[in-house]
Amino acid sequence: MSNQIRITPSILNADFSNLGSEIERISETSDLVHLDVMDDVFVPNFTFDFKHASEIISISKLPVDAHLMVAAVDEIAPKYAEAGCASVTIHAEATTDIRATLKAIRSNGARASLALKPKTLLEPYLEFFNEIDMLLIMTVEPGFGGQKFMSDQLPKIAQARKEIGNKAIWLQVDGGISLETIEAAATAGADTFVAGSAVFNSADPAQMVTFLREKAQTNRN
Ligand code: DX5
Ligand code: ZN
Repeated sequence: MSNQIRITPSILNADFSNLGSEIERISETSDLVHLDVMDDVFVPNFTFDFKHASEIISISKLPVDAHLMVAAVDEIAPKYAEAGCASVTIHAEATTDIRATLKAIRSNGARASLALKPKTLLEPYLEFFNEIDMLLIMTVEPGFGGQKFMSDQLPKIAQARKEIGNKAIWLQVDGGISLETIEAAATAGADTFVAGSAVFNSADPAQMVTFLREKAQTNRN
């Protein structure tokens, strides 16, 4: 297993009126910034439309990891790649043409990533492992920050780690990641961690990212 840990803070719980400086606050210690795009259709919450997201992408000091929680994802995902995201994640439950959309993300210059909601099984998606650069296992129901980590997803994370084997696929977890839960997710095999409220509700977000990284590394040295 690769030893590299990546921390990708989510700005969902940051100050939306000041996102440029919110991203700057974490840029020294973070690997990427996680941008949660919600359309109030795929999930019962709305964050950014494409125009607003593009502005954030263009001002971000960090590479952007876009997590698209939108119903019409096949059409919009390549545009996020084109807009300059380093990584674009589509939900298996939203896409109607997984292979074509993943391919279009890559050909527009971004890493292609596939997300699975907690109730979605891994097996049907193993056949797409050659098309992905990252797999995202949701550890909450998508839609909101600040929810409780679902430890019943740990076996799925371990199963995904086993299936990834030597492939260069990042394994990301998203939802309820904190100093209390990150070790269990890392032990199960995750190497890329989204953390929203744990980072932005702390007094020193940049320092919290470092603490999270240290915790995640505990089991890898
Ligand atoms: C939830 C989002 C998450 C959220 C995580 O649908 O995908 O990225 O911001 O927030 P926390 O870390 O507070 O669970
Ligand atoms: Zn997310």
